[in-house]
Amino acid sequence: MTPVHLAGPRLALREIEHEDTDALLAIYGDPKATRHLSFEPRTREQVQAIVDRSMNSAKDSPRNEYGLAVTHLGEHRLIGYARLATEPQQAATIGFALHQAEWGKGLGIETVHLLCGLGFNTLGLHRIWAARSPLNEASARTLLRAGMTEDGCIRDHVFVHGAWRDSITYSILEHEWARVDGLHAVGSVTSDVAESAQPSGIRPGDEAPRER
Ligand SMILES: CC(C)(COP(=O)(O)OP(=O)(O)OC[C@H]1O[C@@H](n2cnc3c(N)ncnc32)[C@H](O)[C@@H]1OP(=O)(O)O)[C@@H](O)C(=O)NCCC(=O)NCCS
Repeated sequence: MTPVHLAGPRLALREIEHEDTDALLAIYGDPKATRHLSFEPRTREQVQAIVDRSMNSAKDSPRNEYGLAVTHLGEHRLIGYARLATEPQQAATIGFALHQAEWGKGLGIETVHLLCGLGFNTLGLHRIWAARSPLNEASARTLLRAGMTEDGCIRDHVFVHGAWRDSITYSILEHEWARVDGLHAVGSVTSDVAESAQPSGIRPGDEAPRER
C-alpha cells in the first residue's frame, strides 16, 4: 500500500475507499458536473469500477495512477475526485472534479495545487499537464489561476456526446511550480505520501497510464 495523505489550508487528498462510491456518484453521475468532461454521466456500476480501480492502483508497484478523494480539511467525506497519472519522462496528467455544491470557493485552485504538490514535491516530476474541453471556462480559469500555462490544442482528442471534441492543454514545469509553491500556492502541502510511495511510479520509459 502507498497511502497518500496531503493537506492544504482548506482541503486534503486521501486514498479512495469503497464507502466513497455514493459521494463520487453524486459528481460523476451529475450531468452538470460532467458536462465538459470526456465521458457521459457515469452509472453506479461505472463509478464502483473507478473506485475499485483507484484502490487497486494504490497497491501497484511502481504506482502510476493516483485516484484520490478530495475532502475538506479534517473531514472524511469525499467532495471531489483528483487524479494524477504518471507518464514517461517524469510527466503526469491531472484531472479533477468537485461536487457542484463546492464550486466557486477557490477549492478548484487548491485541488490543482495539491495535485502539483504531489507530483512535484513528493514524486519528483518535471512536468504536469491537463486537458479541458474548449467550452470549459471554469477549468480554463482554474488551471491558469493555479499557475499553469496554455500549451495548445489536441484536435479531436476525445469522442463524447456522439462527436469528436478538441482539448485545450495546459502545463506547469517544476521550476514554475517552485515559484508558485513559494509565492502564490493556496498554502503548501503539509503532510506527505508514506515512505513506501516515494517515487515508485516515476521512471522515464514507464508505460503511460490508461486515459479516462
Ligand atoms: C473546474 C472546477 C473544479 C472549478 O472549481 P471551483 O472550485 O469552482 O473553482 P475556483 O473557485 O477555485 O475558481 C477558479 C477560477 O475559476 C473561475 N471560475 C469558476 N467557475 C467558473 C465558471 N463557471 N465560469 C468562468 N470562470 C469560473 C473562478 O472565478 C476563478 O477565477 P478567478 O479567481 O480569476 O475569479 C469545477 O467547476 C468542477 O468541478 N467542474 C466540473 C468538473 C470539471 O470540469 N473539471 C475540470 C476538468 S479539466
